[in-house]
Amino acid sequence: MTNISKPIGLKTSVLLHGADYNYEQWLDYPEILDTDFKYMKEARCNVMSIGIFSWAEIEPQEGVFNFDWLDDLFDRLEANNIYAILGTPSGSKPAWLSKKYPEVCRVDEKGKREPHGQRHNHCRTSPIYREKVAIINRKLAQRYGKRKNLLLWHVSNEYNAGACYCDYCIDDFRKWLRVRYKTLDNLNKAWWTSFWSHRFTDWNQIFPSDNSISGLMLDWKRFISDQTLDFFKSEISVLREETPNIPITTNFMLPNVDLNYWNFAKYVDVISWDSYPRWHIGDREWMEGVKTAFFHDMHRSYKKAPFMMMESTPSATNWQGISIPKKPNMHLLSSLQAIAHGSNTVQYFQWRQSRGGEEKFHSAVVNHLGDDKTPVFKDVVEVGKKLENLSQIVNCRTNSQVAIIYDLENEWALSLAQLPRSQKKCYQDRCIAHYRALWNLGISCDIIDSLDSPFDNYKLVVAPMLYMLRDGVAEKFIKFVENGGTLILTYLTGLVNDSDLCFLGGFPGKLKELAGIVVEDTDVISNPLKQKIKVKWNADDEREYDVFHYADRLRVKTAEIKGKYTLSNMANTAAITENKFKNGVTWYLATRMEDSFYDDFYKKLIVDLNIKQNIISNLPQGVTCQKRSDEEGEFYFIMNFNKESVSLNIEDKELIDIDTDSKVINSIQLPSYGIKILKKAM
Ligand code: GLA
Ligand code: ZN
Repeated sequence: MTNISKPIGLKTSVLLHGADYNYEQWLDYPEILDTDFKYMKEARCNVMSIGIFSWAEIEPQEGVFNFDWLDDLFDRLEANNIYAILGTPSGSKPAWLSKKYPEVCRVDEKGKREPHGQRHNHCRTSPIYREKVAIINRKLAQRYGKRKNLLLWHVSNEYNAGACYCDYCIDDFRKWLRVRYKTLDNLNKAWWTSFWSHRFTDWNQIFPSDNSISGLMLDWKRFISDQTLDFFKSEISVLREETPNIPITTNFMLPNVDLNYWNFAKYVDVISWDSYPRWHIGDREWMEGVKTAFFHDMHRSYKKAPFMMMESTPSATNWQGISIPKKPNMHLLSSLQAIAHGSNTVQYFQWRQSRGGEEKFHSAVVNHLGDDKTPVFKDVVEVGKKLENLSQIVNCRTNSQVAIIYDLENEWALSLAQLPRSQKKCYQDRCIAHYRALWNLGISCDIIDSLDSPFDNYKLVVAPMLYMLRDGVAEKFIKFVENGGTLILTYLTGLVNDSDLCFLGGFPGKLKELAGIVVEDTDVISNPLKQKIKVKWNADDEREYDVFHYADRLRVKTAEIKGKYTLSNMANTAAITENKFKNGVTWYLATRMEDSFYDDFYKKLIVDLNIKQNIISNLPQGVTCQKRSDEEGEFYFIMNFNKESVSLNIEDKELIDIDTDSKVINSIQLPSYGIKILKKAM
């Protein structure tokens, strides 16, 4: 296939530091443009993402192209040794296009076409839109494809799953269904349409707006994701033809945007994503560090390779309600956190604040004050200097022995399900609850998909709330455990198949034998403190934990009971079980526990499984240590997300502090939001 990704990755041998640069907004201000290049040097920037929203500047009228400003921009970047990441402009369409071809605008559920405006809102099926995008992409590729400093294609911007109900989209949805189900009879069975008289007798009766048919709505989500991918493929086929040696990315967002990024990952050459945590919020503000780490790990895991942090804010955003400017040290910490988890870049939205428009108060490397003396500019310079000294990291990888399954299609199915407790399903949060304990133990994790990702290389696979077991997944789990793996399953696992039809004969469906239990029913604990469990970790260590929201009543078959409920009519029945199966083990956690349970559980498990922690044991809350390594050395990133400073003992005597180039003796101090990078030569 011409479109599938090539293993070319990025051509650079240094870490990249840069930003989205909207040169076209400042063409009337030549002195500002001159200053930009001076400041880029000062900030140690070696890359700029350009042209992302410049369709109307490049093609002001249909078929009339103006590349002068972009030529100049390429020249100036090249003269300053700055790589260009060139955007294709499909993320925002010019007004003449919507006016002449209204079909490029999306249609809502009621059949009303959206007015022109905003961005990221074109119909992804419209043949005219695809054609016009192909024309401009080809022109860009032909004109800039041979530029020495063209590093990468930045295709469109943050594709999303916003629906379009135009005739083109609905027709394609029906075609997609025909491919999936072949016959209407198959479709009716898969969607259980005998329920509420929903049987379809003609493909044309199908319209995706009926939440009572969860199979239909799940397929609609799948279709939108596939159709967006199809649009992306149509964009890149031109680029692959014209510039076969220039790698391609498209910037992903947080995974809860209803696109199955695992499918996209196969077609991009390098993964990139836009990371916008909300720092300094709440009592447990270090938790934002945990979440951000989880998502960085997920982006590393899509291709099991270094990724790019394509966007991050130099300080605050202007769209999060309240966005607190980064406190001292946080910019360095959050930037190097991305590197610690596998990014080879720190890039910002945006280089300079736009003078007008919706984002004029979003922070930037250069703000409206316009000089290089602001705290934000200084923070950016500090990051630039650090990255210059870390080029050895570029080829370093992360080897995780633990994987957590965070399955996007499962999330869609679970979000559609009407359960006895639909409040606080919290799927993503619960994946992060398991991750938090491992992060705080200094254990690196991959974040993987149940279907796409192989399990073979892990000792431990954690699969929280895997409500939907897609075809082939149960078999993968069984093989993994047979071969000696340890698997963690929880409540709300194995309820439905690919089409959202319930498994008959008890949950967790095809995993009953592996888990050695069957679920009889599930209590919805309405008050968080109405149920508890007790666990005997060893002869003289029995502990009690609060549990909440969901509590399965188990019928125990071959499993051993490791923890019991303590209250109400569930008292003394199994809450945690362990089942040996061939060479491996499956744990079933039948309820949702407070954090300290996961701390104790994973602490024990990693010892039993001989999973090595990264250099420091007993990390305080809010602190982690992550590792990247290659044949020449190991880099340890020790990060403190607390507002208080911490002191840590270092037992390994071979570690060098990369800032001072001296050996670390016994202990290190990390200030508030501090980071230290230690190196061990091999
Ligand atoms: C997104 C977009 C950018 C910009 C930033 C603001 O990530 O890709 O164009 O709007 O948000 O935070
Ligand atoms: Zn459409």
